[in-house]
Amino acid sequence: MHASATAKSPPRIVLSGQALQKSFGGVRAVSGMSLTLREGSITGLIGPNGAGKSTLFHLLSGVIRPDSGRVELFGDNITALPTHERAQRGMVRSFQLAREFGPLTVLENLLLAPQNQCGERLLPLFFGPAKVRAEQEGLYRRAVEVLALSRLTALRNEYAANLSGGQKKLLELGRALMTDCPVILLDEPGAGVNPALMGLLTEMIRRLNAEYGKTFLIIEHDMDFIARLCDPVIVMTEGRHLMEASFDEIRRDPAVIEAYLGRAAAHV
Ligand SMILES: Nc1ncnc2c1ncn2[C@@H]1O[C@H](COP(=O)(O)OP(=O)(O)OP(=O)(O)O)[C@@H](O)[C@H]1O
Ligand SMILES: [Mg+2]
Repeated sequence: MHASATAKSPPRIVLSGQALQKSFGGVRAVSGMSLTLREGSITGLIGPNGAGKSTLFHLLSGVIRPDSGRVELFGDNITALPTHERAQRGMVRSFQLAREFGPLTVLENLLLAPQNQCGERLLPLFFGPAKVRAEQEGLYRRAVEVLALSRLTALRNEYAANLSGGQKKLLELGRALMTDCPVILLDEPGAGVNPALMGLLTEMIRRLNAEYGKTFLIIEHDMDFIARLCDPVIVMTEGRHLMEASFDEIRRDPAVIEAYLGRAAAHV
């Protein structure tokens, strides 16, 4: 970025975690972690196993409460709000282990995703049945689009419980896409997804960012995926923020190589 008198200010911060702490018994999973997520970015979050990344997501999304620290969404303090209220305010997340509804079909999983999420309206109270039907038709059209995007069309009537691990991850992303939330947190979207589908996943996220303006925070161990998609990248280690920079800078940083990339590279 070039500094000049007319330089544009950076995009606004949509989500921030400030000095977050969370211990489980004697384990300090998150230990004074702060981060900010800029509007329109695809921000990566990387770090070794056990660094506290998923726990941080639980704190940001309201699955658990921090021992101390603060979470803000669009400048509002949401630290005490439950998950569904955070979703109504514009943030949705996926889980490291997909949480599909097994007894429902793939299509039903998608159609139910917007319930209690962003954009939910109490339509039946305010509008007539025609409007409700139009809304349902809109949802259905969207589900058909999401099915095509995530290559799940052929499996639309399959029970979610019968999907492979990779297909469940795609369904999980599909469920996040069914909502109108502008901020999407993804915990290892690529885990268990085969290399061909990884390319598809990357394209889906890129399009959602470029064409729909969605902001992403993504935990991922696949460094190709991070390198292709994420800027900036935040490195977390031992519950703390270690560094934030472009992937190119991060992969050359001795502290990052020591804490993570050296080991990750050794496993590739
Ligand atoms: N519910 C829990 N009860 C006890 N300890 C927990 C719990 N959740 C996480 N931990 C511990 O907190 C630490 C951070 O775990 P976390 O799952 O957040 O790491 P992570 O960075 O997501 O790791 P990975 O890359 O393997 O997914 C680990 O030591 C983990 O064992
Ligand atoms: Mg994790």
